[in-house]
Amino acid sequence: MEFSSVTEEDEDRIIALTLEHLTDGAYVENCMRKQFASGKYYGVKATEDGELAGYLTFKEGIDFTYPHDELRSEVIKEAKGRKVFTGDAIYVNPKYRKCGLGGKLTAMARDIMIDHGGYYFLGEMWIYPDGTIPAHSPSKIYGEYEYEKIVPMFYKDNKKYGLTCPICGEDCKCGALISLIRLDAGKGTEDEKK
Ligand SMILES: CC(C)(COP(=O)(O)OP(=O)(O)OC[C@H]1O[C@@H](n2cnc3c(N)ncnc32)[C@H](O)[C@@H]1OP(=O)(O)O)[C@@H](O)C(=O)NCCC(=O)NCCS
Repeated sequence: MEFSSVTEEDEDRIIALTLEHLTDGAYVENCMRKQFASGKYYGVKATEDGELAGYLTFKEGIDFTYPHDELRSEVIKEAKGRKVFTGDAIYVNPKYRKCGLGGKLTAMARDIMIDHGGYYFLGEMWIYPDGTIPAHSPSKIYGEYEYEKIVPMFYKDNKKYGLTCPICGEDCKCGALISLIRLDAGKGTEDEKK
């Protein structure tokens, strides 16, 4: 497995996978294209024999899948002016899951954020209708949670933005775990420290 930073050559593939497996819709595609062009969008990837096995993208600032004004104000208050990076997408091909790949990508992303002066990682972690939070475990590698809030029905306005959920379709019942995690390079897993 090879690990490296995402480049503009990965843009189409990452957008296609994000639309297929995370949130689908022109609104998300347009946001991602703008972010790729902004110079303030970052990502790390794992490839095997040229195939994209997984990726994690993130951006400077506070930016949810679509605007949540009250929550944004709450997070701004909690962050107290410190630099925040928001996670955009994390996806690992099912055949490589549960082997620590998500964790490894998280550790790489964390180090890039710290190098760019990041203090907090803002997570919008998807909560499936069955309560599963797939990104929860790898995200502990970022550091200490200083704020967390479960927001049920986080994606209830998907329809308004023309978005669909790969599990629920237009009428999304999924929630999100919103978290501010203080980035800490010393927080790596035992495996990572070896
Ligand atoms: C979220 C996602 C990226 C995690 O990727 P991953 O590579 O499986 O992540 P990790 O392997 O680091 O961790 C996942 C689990 O495997 C476990 N694990 C890691 N290494 C392991 C190993 N060597 N042996 C056994 N289990 C292991 C972790 O403890 C974790 O367990 P838990 O979730 O039951 O607590 C992946 O599930 C995914 O792509 N999901 C679909 C997209 C999605 O939901 N994205 C989240 C959007 S917010």
